Amino acid sequence: MDSAEAKTRIAELRSQVARHDELYYRGAKPEISDFEYDQLKQKLADLEARFPEHASADSPTQRVGDDRVQGFVEVAHRQKMLSLDNTYNEAELRSFHARLVKLIETDDVRYTVEPKIDGLAVSLTYEEGKLVRAVTRGKGDRGDDITRNVLTISEAMLPRKLHGAAPRLVEIRGEIYLTQAEFERINAERAAAGEELYANPRNTAAGTIKQLDVTEVAKRRLSIVLYSLGYCEPQMVGSQVELQKQLRAWGLPVVEKYWIARGIDEAWEKIGELDGLRRSFAYGTDGAVVKLDDFELQRAAGFTDKSPRWAIAYKYKPDTARTRLKSITIQVGKTGILSPVAELEPVFLSLSTISRATLHNENEIREKDIRVGDLVEIERAGEVIPAVLRSFPEERVAGAKEFDLYEAVGGKCPVCGSKIAKIEVDTESGVGAAWKCQNYDCRAQRAGRLGFFCSRRALAIDGLGDTVAAKLVELDLVRDPPDLYDISLETLSTLNLGTAEEPRVFGEKNATKLVTAREAARTLPLEKWLYALSVPDVGESTARELGKRHRTFAELADSALLKAVLKKAALEEEKETQSPNSKKNPAKDDAEKERRKARRTEIDAELATLNEGILAGVPSDIGPAVARSTLDFFASEPGQRLLAKLKKLGIDPQGTVLEAGVFTGKTFVLTGTLPTMKREEAEQKILAAGGKVSGSVSKKTSYVLAGAEAGSKLEKAQSLGVPIIDEAEFLRLVG
Ligand code: IVH
Repeated sequence: MDSAEAKTRIAELRSQVARHDELYYRGAKPEISDFEYDQLKQKLADLEARFPEHASADSPTQRVGDDRVQGFVEVAHRQKMLSLDNTYNEAELRSFHARLVKLIETDDVRYTVEPKIDGLAVSLTYEEGKLVRAVTRGKGDRGDDITRNVLTISEAMLPRKLHGAAPRLVEIRGEIYLTQAEFERINAERAAAGEELYANPRNTAAGTIKQLDVTEVAKRRLSIVLYSLGYCEPQMVGSQVELQKQLRAWGLPVVEKYWIARGIDEAWEKIGELDGLRRSFAYGTDGAVVKLDDFELQRAAGFTDKSPRWAIAYKYKPDTARTRLKSITIQVGKTGILSPVAELEPVFLSLSTISRATLHNENEIREKDIRVGDLVEIERAGEVIPAVLRSFPEERVAGAKEFDLYEAVGGKCPVCGSKIAKIEVDTESGVGAAWKCQNYDCRAQRAGRLGFFCSRRALAIDGLGDTVAAKLVELDLVRDPPDLYDISLETLSTLNLGTAEEPRVFGEKNATKLVTAREAARTLPLEKWLYALSVPDVGESTARELGKRHRTFAELADSALLKAVLKKAALEEEKETQSPNSKKNPAKDDAEKERRKARRTEIDAELATLNEGILAGVPSDIGPAVARSTLDFFASEPGQRLLAKLKKLGIDPQGTVLEAGVFTGKTFVLTGTLPTMKREEAEQKILAAGGKVSGSVSKKTSYVLAGAEAGSKLEKAQSLGVPIIDEAEFLRLVG
């Protein structure tokens, strides 16, 4: 791989990791397991190390994930909440130890080994012994104030006042979680209401704590466990062991068990012991945290930007089990893609019985040589549906055939019987092939789109899970998602989700809840509606960007901006063909070379007009593929049908178009101390005027706003010739 290829790959990996961060931290709805996520991140870190020229301070490898959501008040932590470095293998654990020994200049190291709780990090502030605030980790330096929600935890579990002597001010850190029993109770309730089931306790706890309505939070019994200190004044303890004892003496809930280990060999042994016990704990665990015990030595070892050098998390491999693959069935998703599902001999794994698992796609079945009848190994990584890891070909019964998806479905969609076509799709391992049902009106696609339309990240129409969606489509009550608005409360109330013999009625309470949520969604902004309508290639962040640049669906359907994106792509393509020295298409003679040169000059001028005009500040998310598919979709029959339905319903979502300000298209870098303004105030003014703030100076920087004791950024600006302004000049520009 050369540097240019690495640059592209790094950019791809960064956006993948960022997407999974968003799903995990803010959406509490991850799509891949922690293990897969860590591997992705490791790949990125490896590439950044091999090609340091592409390293960047805002790579996800260099910062803490961000769990902040809208609607909560943000509060600064007195001491930063960091994350922990992860490892899955013993060798890396030992190199952690070796590095630490060098740092603290002694090999007489005492560690504690504690369970790594799989919950949601929280920081509690106690002032004069009284609980005054609870804050999420946020982005490390500041998080969301979730005090009201945390106060739903019973006083018996979480004392509002510390027992005995307390420091004047202390931040105590720990993890909020749901017990397995409480998680199962919640899911049973959801099943009875025909609602989508939650995937696991961790995400459910995270989703619960981020609810703005405290009465909803109170319906679920959250638990908490505490294990570390942030700011503390005055200091009362000098080691992790002392801290564990102090937390307990204050009456706070602590881990069931932790170990003291001298040296890394003993720590490794304790990690094994913990693995044997951890499944009996009230909270889920996914690893062991190894911490240097002595606080004085911890200070000597110090921190990186992201994590302490004195601690590491050793993550256990996810649980696996072996069972027999009975058959492979095919599911059709909202985009029409046919995905193979493993139907298994039921087997118990990680607290539940598993009888289905994902096989991802046909290529993977081939690569892993998985055949019907095989003994297979499955993994449940906690987060997602279990996956089939591998088969055991050596134990295969004679005659087992290779799987062929096209053959398995007889060349047509298993749901609607329409034609299927082979298409290219992005997979974790690059571009792959998949089969897709060609019928937009296929029942499976319709139900998939309806479920998605109502999902939390889309219009959040609570109460409509996959079962209800499938039923409404089966009864032909919904063709397109907006048809949901035409169904009466009575029809919904009497909806039978069961069978004729064993009816299970949706009920008035659930129906009322659904209708309320559906009405509330009417006024959500364009970006939400656009995302909710499943326009091909328009994901969440693209929808957000489009929503900022269009006022209505009507404007988007005929978007001048998207047409400009296509025009730009066409010009760039033409420019390639007009190269005077093109190998593929060499110029015949000098006259043609001249003609090409002239045309290229024209093209450059047209491109400059686009880039500095209508396309100024348009992010790369909105590229030609998105532009083509958005315009095509709204021009197509289904797209036109959707727009007509919205119009008839009186639903006209509005974009959040920012009025251009004096700094639109301008990027600022701030350095040094300004005479009267705080840095945040200056940043606010820049953002409010449509500008952007960046951390580093480059040729693209419009201005460097410099105050007293400005450092290297000022020098860089001088060397690049970037305009440098002071506070007075800045205030004059803002007006
Ligand atoms: S100590 C400076 N101890 O895991 C960081 N963290 O992946 C000190 N976690 O951010 C953290 N169990 O939210 C510590 N026994 C434990 C933990 C634990 C879970 C969480 C914590 C941390 C994350 C890192």
